[in-house]
Amino acid sequence: MEQVVSMPRIGEKAPEFKAVTTQGNIDFPKQYEGSWVILFSHPADFTPVCTSEFMTFAAMEDKFEEAGCKLVGLSVDGLYSHIAWLRTIKEKIEYRGMKNIEVKFPLIEDITMEVAKKYGMIQPGESNTKAVRAVFIIDPKGVIRTIIYYPLSLGRNFDELYRALIALKTSDEFGVATPADWRPGDDVIISPAGSCSTAQNRMEGKEEGLECKDWFFCTKKIAKEDILGKVLKKK
Ligand code: BEZ
Repeated sequence: MEQVVSMPRIGEKAPEFKAVTTQGNIDFPKQYEGSWVILFSHPADFTPVCTSEFMTFAAMEDKFEEAGCKLVGLSVDGLYSHIAWLRTIKEKIEYRGMKNIEVKFPLIEDITMEVAKKYGMIQPGESNTKAVRAVFIIDPKGVIRTIIYYPLSLGRNFDELYRALIALKTSDEFGVATPADWRPGDDVIISPAGSCSTAQNRMEGKEEGLECKDWFFCTKKIAKEDILGKVLKKK
């Protein structure tokens, strides 16, 4: 019989679950209400790509925290495997200048694959027994805002996850969209003209502060300091 795989969608509430983690029990996403959270899966403990990813994410945890975002990992391994792997990472692994890295965020045990299946992390064409590298960026209301899936062999770019988080927060705070490869300080995109008169005004340069490449493609400047002042926590 063909297996039914449920796939959460952008704009929907994050599926709820309770689980055991390396930091105690978790009630997801309820316990993260009011905060951004990134839920991500990895294929297996004690594997090299996953180890490089965990070290990288753990080394960036304070940066995500400053942006008001918590991290939660998951694999279909058991709790004791998780604990042993995180201890090995801290005690033995040195990688790209990172060493003595302590993974402080929770790592969910999911031997039954209950959570992994709810989140479409088991993709049988890739593996029946391991989660793919999934990333869910979830907002303070528990709504999924971004989903990224990578295969087993491909390590993720964590700078891109941080960039996506900051871009989502910027969209929410300033009511704008962000263009390709956007970074704070680059021009942002405003909503396309919704009427002929707005289109005309924009093309005639009557809307102050806008630069229009055409009636449907207008940008404006927001200073990097203004963006970071809004989307990062005050130190
Ligand atoms: C790894 O993390 O190295 C890995 C895990 C599963 C399959 C292939 C690579």
